[in-house]
Amino acid sequence: MRKRTTRGPLPPGNSTGGTGARQRDPLPGTATNNGAAEWDEMYAGSEQVWSGQPNAVLVAEVAQLRPGRALDVGCGEGADAVWLAGQGWDVTALEVSQVALKRAERHAQDARAEVQWVHAGLVEAPLQAGAFDLVSAQYPALLRTPRNDAERLLLAAVAPGGVLLVVHHADVDVEQSNAHGFDPADYVSPSDVAALLGEDWQVHVNERRPRHVATGGGAHHTHDLVLRAERLR
Ligand SMILES: C[S@@+](CC[C@H](N)C(=O)[O-])C[C@H]1O[C@@H](n2cnc3c(N)ncnc32)[C@H](O)[C@@H]1O
Repeated sequence: MRKRTTRGPLPPGNSTGGTGARQRDPLPGTATNNGAAEWDEMYAGSEQVWSGQPNAVLVAEVAQLRPGRALDVGCGEGADAVWLAGQGWDVTALEVSQVALKRAERHAQDARAEVQWVHAGLVEAPLQAGAFDLVSAQYPALLRTPRNDAERLLLAAVAPGGVLLVVHHADVDVEQSNAHGFDPADYVSPSDVAALLGEDWQVHVNERRPRHVATGGGAHHTHDLVLRAERLR
């Protein structure tokens, strides 16, 4: 287990359970900027934000899959990417925050894991369509746009026969979020992605599921929204 967070702000979208106590500022990102500077600032505010453990839904949904090429969208400090690499996946991990990415690289070095790190937002990233057998987006902070750019890019990245896994917090308290300066409705949810799945896709999981994270800023989130879909062709 990696060292504990000593201090620091946690975004409302906290996933793997960092131990920082303080609630934080708006979830970064606007329609015209991918929020990289704000995410950098958030990560720079503490030595470690997330727990260093892979997300439970990722482990549960992916452990039985045959490893291939994986894309981790918004990889944060890299725990999921490192876990995937350890399972034999050929991992590309995408992240807007340079600060987070540097931490993720160190995590991978410590774990002797090989990961291709890409410093870019999803919309700006040079991704090849249909290149990944697994596309995982765990608690991603992807802005909704009128043309559903982020959702379409997630779908497009999956190879025929591949799996798309999108996870987010359920029951986000809108009033509390507004008080912290952001609106959860501005961000892509698993249901936004599910709404775009056509006949080329088979949905295996689309549910609200209990979540057990004992410590950290995300511990107050008790349920996840989980979408797992397979691209048939
Ligand atoms: C709530 S954190 C989740 C991090 C990680 N997936 C996890 O579960 O620990 C959201 C992450 O998405 C990154 N992010 C925000 N907007 C992004 C974008 N447009 N493209 C890629 N990553 C983005 C943030 O920097 C942050 O690290």
